[in-house]
Amino acid sequence: MGQQPREQWGTRAGFLLAAIGSAVGLGNIWRFPYIAYDNGGGAFLLPYLIALLTAGIPLLILEYSIGHRYRSSAPLAYRRISRPAEAIGWWQVAICFVIAIYYAVIVAWAVRYTWFAVGQQWGDDPDGFFFNDFLQVSDGPGMVSGFVSGVAWPLVAVWALVLTVLALGVRKGIEKANKIFIPLLVVLFVLLVIQALTLDGATAGLNALFTPDWGAMLDGGVWIAAYGQIFFSLSIGFAIMVTYASYLRRKVNLTGSAMVAGFANSSFELLAGIGVFAALGFMAATAGTAVDEVATAGIGLAFVAFPQIISTLPLGGALFGVLFFGCLVIAGLSSLISIVQVIVSAVQDRTGLGRVQTVLLVGGATALASVLLFPTPQGLYFLDTFDHFINQYGIALAGLVMVLVFGWLLRRLPLFEKHANAISSIRLDWWWKIALGGITPVLLGFMMWDSLRAELTSQYEGYPEGFLLVAGWGVAIGAIVFGIAVACVPWKRADTIARRDAERVAAQPDGEAPAQLDEPDKIAAPRTSDNDQEGKGH
Ligand code: ALA
Repeated sequence: MGQQPREQWGTRAGFLLAAIGSAVGLGNIWRFPYIAYDNGGGAFLLPYLIALLTAGIPLLILEYSIGHRYRSSAPLAYRRISRPAEAIGWWQVAICFVIAIYYAVIVAWAVRYTWFAVGQQWGDDPDGFFFNDFLQVSDGPGMVSGFVSGVAWPLVAVWALVLTVLALGVRKGIEKANKIFIPLLVVLFVLLVIQALTLDGATAGLNALFTPDWGAMLDGGVWIAAYGQIFFSLSIGFAIMVTYASYLRRKVNLTGSAMVAGFANSSFELLAGIGVFAALGFMAATAGTAVDEVATAGIGLAFVAFPQIISTLPLGGALFGVLFFGCLVIAGLSSLISIVQVIVSAVQDRTGLGRVQTVLLVGGATALASVLLFPTPQGLYFLDTFDHFINQYGIALAGLVMVLVFGWLLRRLPLFEKHANAISSIRLDWWWKIALGGITPVLLGFMMWDSLRAELTSQYEGYPEGFLLVAGWGVAIGAIVFGIAVACVPWKRADTIARRDAERVAAQPDGEAPAQLDEPDKIAAPRTSDNDQEGKGH
């Protein structure tokens, strides 16, 4: 099992495209437009921008700095900061596993719908077609029974593609794929938006989206929605950016990269808002109703409202449909690749296994779980519940814990600030520490409390309690338990790394930590006899 030096991105642009590819996903296309519309329209842009600047970009910089400084996957990087913090890393790995298994299914639906759009196979009942004919959804949640082959085979294809990209490696796989995906996505999406803007009623749709309701800004819920959207959309709290930054070269502009990734993601989101609401305006005009009667988010928007719009278009319906679902596929794939990479990279660092073996082993297991659970009549209920609980009590909670542990408990923000400042263009200062140490934990804490209160007073979607206990709370709490349990297992290789880290710190003239610590692969190369290497190379 020969150890290779840690992989690296070929160029900074390659890293940026991958980071943007991870951020721009289903959340941008189907979540942002509705969230903005529902929370003050044009006025929402202000809390949204504040959330981006006070929490989104600062957290992105924190994740970049951790990954870059320790050049390791999340569990190992956190362990190098403080041994017990490793549990947070494995918790995030578990979160990524849960998200990956259902996110792939939505991409698979979009693959089928790209094809359905050509002949508008949903006929005149897109709703019935989606839920009954395509998904064959059961009457309620419960034990898995039956198999829906129409969902299963595109899902297998999605997984085959994702695992192939990952097996090819960081530079030849992930970077190359994103170099194709992102420009393609931008071109297709711009075409889609242009077509949407030419439709009758488009202006009414845009007015509905952008007319500001300034009163909404006094509503705490609007601010929570803005911060929630930024976290989901920028993929913060999944450890993706820690992982991606661990493959960066030593000298790289970390803060500048975070700014570019953050603003690129938000620009795409705005563009999606324009495209989606122009199309919804057309739908409302054709039906003779107001835009608020047709505005919706998520699955309902993509797989029911859009097919309706496509069928009603006087001209170019097939093209519009292929563009829309094609964009969902591309945006979803690049995000899915980054989510699975978190798991692969963590297991690689933990076991020392090669990339291909790890992808086959853990990527294969993730794919198997996805293929066994979701192409079933009960799959949609699992998807919906996993999504809700892992977002609320997975991603957002992990983001909060990260800030509290690294900022407050371990007081490492000055160290990361120094690390980023040594190589970056935009200097971090008091504003970064206030944003991360003050604003972010207060707002995230409030968000958590608020959603927990709502959760405990009503059953999510009215699903049975037993189902929510297993598929909701069970999954969210299970991810935490998994994190703690794996972190408790002795890890000899990491102990060697920790010892080396300590030696390097002691060797610094001022006793300070060096700017960047070595990659684990290099240090752990002689893992069969750790002591042999002591003293060599000096
Ligand atoms: N950030 C990704 C999305 O928006 C996960 O879907």
